Amino acid sequence: MKSEQIHIPVLLKEVLEYLNLKPGDIVFDGTLGGAGHTVEIFKAIAPTGKLIAVDQDSQAISTAASLFKNYNNIFFYNGNFADVKKIINSFEINKIDAFFLDIGLSSIQIEKSGRGFSYIRNEKLDMRMDTNNPLSAFNVVNEYSEQKLREIFFKFGEEKYSSSIARNIVLSRKSKPIETTGQLNEIIEKTIPVKEKYSKRGHPSKRIFQAIRIEVNSELENLKKAINEGFEVLNKGGRMVIISYHSLEDRIVKNKFINFSGKCICPPELPVCVCGAKKQAEILTKKVVTPSADEILINKRASSAKLRALKKL
Ligand SMILES: C[S@@+](CC[C@H](N)C(=O)[O-])C[C@H]1O[C@@H](n2cnc3c(N)ncnc32)[C@H](O)[C@@H]1O
Repeated sequence: MKSEQIHIPVLLKEVLEYLNLKPGDIVFDGTLGGAGHTVEIFKAIAPTGKLIAVDQDSQAISTAASLFKNYNNIFFYNGNFADVKKIINSFEINKIDAFFLDIGLSSIQIEKSGRGFSYIRNEKLDMRMDTNNPLSAFNVVNEYSEQKLREIFFKFGEEKYSSSIARNIVLSRKSKPIETTGQLNEIIEKTIPVKEKYSKRGHPSKRIFQAIRIEVNSELENLKKAINEGFEVLNKGGRMVIISYHSLEDRIVKNKFINFSGKCICPPELPVCVCGAKKQAEILTKKVVTPSADEILINKRASSAKLRALKKL
């Protein structure tokens, strides 16, 4: 059993170390992707363990299902990892020993899906990980108000030219709809000073595309729900390991973990605690874990990865 190597699994050694699996464990892997982590998790819990492998992208599920066709203790689910409880219950499982997420996009989605995830390729404006999602990047770019566009570019992309990019998108779509990533990229490039394309922060289109993707796929809301539900169904002693690639996502993971470890995360201006902090977990990654220079050299996509892990008490 070999995974599709277009996608190289990020921080694989560290993931396995923090998951601390043993034969017979029940594991929820919410981000199957190219099955890079999944294959190794499966080996670690064999022969008696059970692995629930989830992806909202049906292509990821069908590719992996054929890879594992000779095994019956891996359960595939095409759906959203936010629905942890519903998913495990559908396999008559109530509790799990480990919960793993490697959020974001797989290299396969970026390079082969044709769904417009990258500004480097000229494709249809789509960006849906789940192709049944009624909201696509086309809807966001062509139907959102200028103010809403500005807000998502600023909040999810931390882009300093958010206002002028939003204004030019709205101006441009008045004459004809913006249907491709190429058209959108052209508008962004015409809006920003040329030097910004080569700045240390990277090309602004990268941040704008990322912001639209987060909006289309409700990525932050799904992550919060998944962590809450995943923690609830985790057995005592069980591990939760999450890799994120965006500062807003990492902040969500960090704060949730701090909260589970018993520290209040209420804003300082609140007179009383409303977050209900109670010590229920030990944070295993006192400092966030990032890939080594060697790993980044082999796999550039790993460069923004951040891993956090906890053990439920
Ligand atoms: C970075 S890739 C995972 C790669 C995988 N760990 C590997 O090594 O091959 C992320 C995957 O998670 C999926 N995904 C992202 N958000 C999801 C969600 N809310 N529910 C289910 N799948 C999701 C994407 O479709 C993508 O296939």
